This record gives sequence, structure tokens and C-alpha cells, in this order.
Amino acid sequence: LWWEGTAGSGTLHLLDQRLLPAREVWTQFQSVDEVARAISDMVVRGAPAIGVSAAYGMVLAARSGGGLAAARDVLARTRPTAINLFWALDRMRRVAHGGGDASPERLLDEARRIHEEDAQGNRRMGELLAARIAPGASVLTHCNAGALATGGFGTALSGIFVAHEQGKKVHVFVDETRPRLQGARLTAWELERAGVPYTLICDNMAASLMARRKVQLCVTGADRIAANGDAANKIGTYSVAVNAAHHRVPFIVAAPLSTFDLATASGQEIPIEERAGGEVTEWGAERTCPGRAQVFNPGFDVTPASLITAIVTERGEISPVDGPHIARMMAGA
Ligand code: MRU
Repeated sequence: LWWEGTAGSGTLHLLDQRLLPAREVWTQFQSVDEVARAISDMVVRGAPAIGVSAAYGMVLAARSGGGLAAARDVLARTRPTAINLFWALDRMRRVAHGGGDASPERLLDEARRIHEEDAQGNRRMGELLAARIAPGASVLTHCNAGALATGGFGTALSGIFVAHEQGKKVHVFVDETRPRLQGARLTAWELERAGVPYTLICDNMAASLMARRKVQLCVTGADRIAANGDAANKIGTYSVAVNAAHHRVPFIVAAPLSTFDLATASGQEIPIEERAGGEVTEWGAERTCPGRAQVFNPGFDVTPASLITAIVTERGEISPVDGPHIARMMAGA
């Protein structure tokens, strides 16, 4: 995702992630309503990328002369779980209120800063995470936590990219990630472009691979991490963590500090987005179940801190994962 041009006339460019890998279509966005729709419809997705896009959306709102508070509300209603969205909107609000000057130029400066900081954080996270990847290791990941999901080159995938650059001969097992297939469509696409060897598996195959000792490390991103270390991420992440604990495979979460929500005490309080049933009942144009089937389609689940070996942030690694260690990291200690 990128911003082209000045605050007064520039546009937000998004690669339409719904169409990957079949087609690479870039679309330009000129209004905050369009950006909000792009986030809800998952043209852009992944917690950090949602936050960065929303920040640019606020620039579009400021230059249209519409109220910033209303624009913030429209963006805040798009996806409830990713805390990076609310974190980015708060940063934009502080700039708007700070000096009384909510000019599009000042807001664009802040949006660019949010974007750049995320990209730099990805690099540092990648280096830390790569240190945990042994030469020749097979790493399992769920959903997509790569360049498409962030302002840089990824959180969970950043470590894999760095390990690959270092010549470690890393191999990746990619969970396809039902129901929207972010693993099959997006992670596989990114790994292929980077030349990282990978094997695509259905989500329900991970435990069997672990039982056969084929996986040395599991790494995922997160959409929101509560003060006690419970982490919400794409539905299915929790099963990966349970299986990893059972087979004594380390389970690592990679996330920037903007993904931590110290105001939320535990995972039980994290709002979990529920999405349309059609994501489960249809395969393309085809219905895959009886017409009256009832559907439960939560977009995320919560992995308890007790199942997380470590959380890798741009500031360092948190391990063991608990409230005091998180509070210390957030305070910069
Ligand atoms: O519903 P999505 O595709 O936005 O969910 C994305 C995830 O769950 C990612 O793992 C998470 O946002 C971290 S991305 C660096």
C-alpha cells in the first residue's frame, strides 16, 4: 500500500487482496468512505496494514472538509478486533487536536510516520525472529502476516524472509487458513515471489505434521494482545498453539508494540469480529452445504498467554509471556 502525491491531491493506492493470486489489481482511493469500505471488504487486511490505511483515510477526510470525528467513527466501525486500527486513529486524532491545526499536510506527515515506523519495526522484528530459526528448520505459519498485512515486509513472515536472506534454508508450512484462504492465496504468493520454499497444507493437517516431527517452530502475527499476553489472531491460530504445546514445538507471536492493548486485561475482553456466513457456505459461486445450514464464522480466536513461548516485538523479545514482562517492554525497560 502506498500514498502518491501531496496531501491536497494525492491518493491512496491499495493492491486488491481479494483478487490475489489470480490478478494483481491496484486501486486508487480518494475518500474516507471508500477507504472504510476497502477495509471492511478486505481489499486491505492484516492489523498493521489496516491501521496505516486508516491513517491515510484521515488525510482524505481532512482535505474533503468533512468532520474528522465523523471520519474517525466511520473507520472505527470497519473491523473491531485489530487494535492497530484504533491505535492509528488515536495518533491521527492527537495530531489534529495537538496544535489546533488539522491540515491535510500535517495529517499526511503523521500517516507517513506511522507507515515508516511500521516498516522499520518489521525489519528489526525480522532480525530478532530469524535468530530463533535454526538452519534447515521447517516453520509453520497461519494466515498472512507478511508484506501484504503491514506497512513493511511483515511480522511473522519477516523472520522467515530474513532467515532466507541469511541462507538458512528455511522451509515453510503454510496453513491455507479457512475460510478466506489468506495462507493459500497471500502467504504462498509472497513466499513464492521471495523464492522461499514452502508447502501448502489444509488447516487440519498441522497436528499430523507436528506428530511426525516435521515442524520445528510455529510463528504467527496478532491482531490484538491483551495486557496479560493473551493474543487474538486469525481463527485457527489457537488450534495451532494447542497442537504446538502438545508436541512441544515453540509457538511464537510476532507483533509490533502497536498491537498491544494494555487497556484490555485479558483475551476474554477482546472483541471478536463475526463475518458473513457466506464465507463458510459458499465456494466461489457454489454452495457447499444444505440451504438451511446454520453458520458460526468468527474471524479470530484467542491464544492464551500460557501457550505462547515468546512474543517478538520491534523492541525485543518478551518471554515468558505475562503481564509484568509485557508492561516492562511497553515501558521501554
Ligand atoms: O482477517 P485478516 O486477514 O485481516 O486477519 C489477519 C491476521 O489475523 C494476521 O495474522 C494479523 O492481522 C497480523 S498481520 C501482521
